[in-house]
Formats: sequence, C-alpha cells, structure tokens
Amino acid sequence: MRVLVTGGAGYVGSHVARALRESGHEVAVFDDLSEGHRRAARGLGFVRGDLLNPRALDRALAKSGAEAVIHMAAKCQVGESVEKPGLYWRQNVIGSLTLLEAMLRAGCRLLVFSSSAATYGQPDRELIDESAPKAPCNPYGRTKLVFEEALADHSAAGLLRYAALRYFNAAGAHSSGKIGEDHAVETHLIPNLLMAALSGGARPLKIFGTDYPTPDGTAVRDYVHVEDLAAAHVKALDYLARGGESLAVNLGTGRGSSIREVLAAARKVTGREFPTEDAPRRAGDPARLVASNALAKEKLGWAPTRSLEDIIASAWKWHSKHPEGYGGH
Ligand code: UFG
Repeated sequence: MRVLVTGGAGYVGSHVARALRESGHEVAVFDDLSEGHRRAARGLGFVRGDLLNPRALDRALAKSGAEAVIHMAAKCQVGESVEKPGLYWRQNVIGSLTLLEAMLRAGCRLLVFSSSAATYGQPDRELIDESAPKAPCNPYGRTKLVFEEALADHSAAGLLRYAALRYFNAAGAHSSGKIGEDHAVETHLIPNLLMAALSGGARPLKIFGTDYPTPDGTAVRDYVHVEDLAAAHVKALDYLARGGESLAVNLGTGRGSSIREVLAAARKVTGREFPTEDAPRRAGDPARLVASNALAKEKLGWAPTRSLEDIIASAWKWHSKHPEGYGGH
C-alpha cells in the first residue's frame, strides 16, 4: 500500500516507517521536525509540514497517493503536558482532527493511530486489558483518549476504519544501530541510565521514587522493544486492509520490570556500573503499568519477540555509537 506516516522522523515513527518499507509498502513521511530528525527518515519520501495546516496535509496526501495513514505525530511528554496543556490539546487533538478531515477529503479511510497506556491512568489490576477503566491522570493521556473517541464516532458513522495502538513503554533501538532514541530533553529511563553510564558517573541516574507499593519500592513498567512495536503497526495495517473492524489494542509484553530490575539487566548487558541517586517520586507517575497483550495476539496476530536484555543491548549499541544522538539533524 501507499502509506503516509506522520511523525515518521520521530523515535517510534522512524522504526515504523522502515518496517513498512521492509514489508513492501510505499512510504512517505510527514513531519514538522519539531521533535524528529531528518536523518531518521533518510531514504524515505519526506514532506516537512505542520499537522495544523490543512493545505500541507492535502498536498502530502495527494502527492503520496496515500491509501492509509499511520498517525504518530504528537507531543508526548507527560510532565510538559501538565505545564502546557494548551499545546497538547492543540497539537494532539486539533492537529489530529485536521489530519482526519484531510483524509476524508482525500478519500483515505484507513488509519493506524499511536495511542498510549496513559489513556488508562492507574488501573487497579495486575495486567491491564482493554476493558480497564480509562481515567487518564494527565493532559497527555486525555488528549490521546479524546482522539480515540473521535475516531470511534467517525468509525461508527462509516467514515473510516482505524486501529488505535496503546503503547506501553517503547524502548530500545533499531538492530542496524542507525536509528534510535534522541529527544531534545530526555526524560525516559533507559536512555537516561545508559547516558549515565557513558558519562562515567558525572551524571548519576536519578531513581524517581523508592517508596512505591511494588516489591522493591520502585515503579514497574512494561518495556516493549521499538522494533516489536513497529511490527505491530505493519500487522495493524494489514488487518485494516483485510477489512478488519476498528479497534483499540494494547502493545506491551505482559512482563513488568521495576527500575532496579532494569538497572540489574543493564549491568549484565553492558558490564558497566551505573551510578544512581534516590530521588522523590515524579509527579503524575503511576506505580505499575503492565499490559495484557491477549487482544493484540488474537486480532492482529502480534506478539513481542524481544526481551528486556535485547532492548537494553540495542539501546546501548545506539547510544554508545551516537552519544550526541543525531547531532541536531
Ligand atoms: N525514571 C527514573 N529516572 C529517570 C527517568 C525515569 O527513575 O531518569 C522512572 C520514572 O519515574 C518512571 C519509570 O522510570 O517511574 C519509567 O519512566 P519513563 O519516563 O521511561 O516512562 P513513563 O512510564 O513515564 O512514560 C511512558 C511514555 C509516555 C507515556 C507513559 C504512559 O514515555 O509517553 O509511558 O504512562 F505517556
């Protein structure tokens, strides 16, 4: 298929764009490069444009002849969303609606949307399945949930079909070592701890919260390899192309790891020591988020194949080869 990938120069987006191309799809990337990197989309059709600009979207959809869109362009930092809610509602909700309207004008009626575990908030269950209550605890999660609802309404009206993919904790890097995680302000655990190791102790990793009601007191997350996530997008697109009904599914491994467990795995994989420093809890962080991925298995035939050690080894390869990330490009 011909596919337009919004946010395809970003961290998850660049892995998805490559996986689509490797599966034989024709890929064009639409990205404003506010967070993404031109080099992450090297070798792919590329349009620099703003989601809030309907004309730019019309042109990109016409030029690419897109039969489907994978929509990953979004603001995605929980803390920033609390401080600047307007930015998140504008980009993630109005931007996404602007895209949806442009798709309908262009007659493009299949959409894969990157949603988030943040749509759940903090459900009181060991494994979160899709029927868990949706009670997001920050503006970021609310913007993702509200756009899922907009999609459900459009789907019910017969205007399009969609797959909303609720990522748990995306992590790791491409096996080629050529693309990986590079955020202007890095807030994520695994890049921060590997950079702490590379700094030789100059920048210890802060452990945000050691008093959570978890076995070792640190927060538990479900880390899923970005290449496994990318494979799920390809499967979701195939599912929609086969006539599959609209759905929302979790993408996680079903296995939770605490911060201390991630640190232990990182020591084993890299052979390095990681200087750490206990710090207070980070505002808005849930104690535990672990997915049930049964629905993704059933509907998409997707199951993650890579372990936490694989995630860390691939991220280590990326960060040690590219300590400055893409170097601002
Ligand atoms: N953490 C640290 N030190 C750091 C960075 C993170 O202790 O330097 C902790 C966090 O406080 C949290 C855990 O490590 O307890 C994981 O944090 P990340 O920032 O890596 O990931 P989050 O779980 O906060 O966020 C992810 C996605 C968001 C998404 C959210 C859903 O990155 O986009 O899951 O809850 F919204």
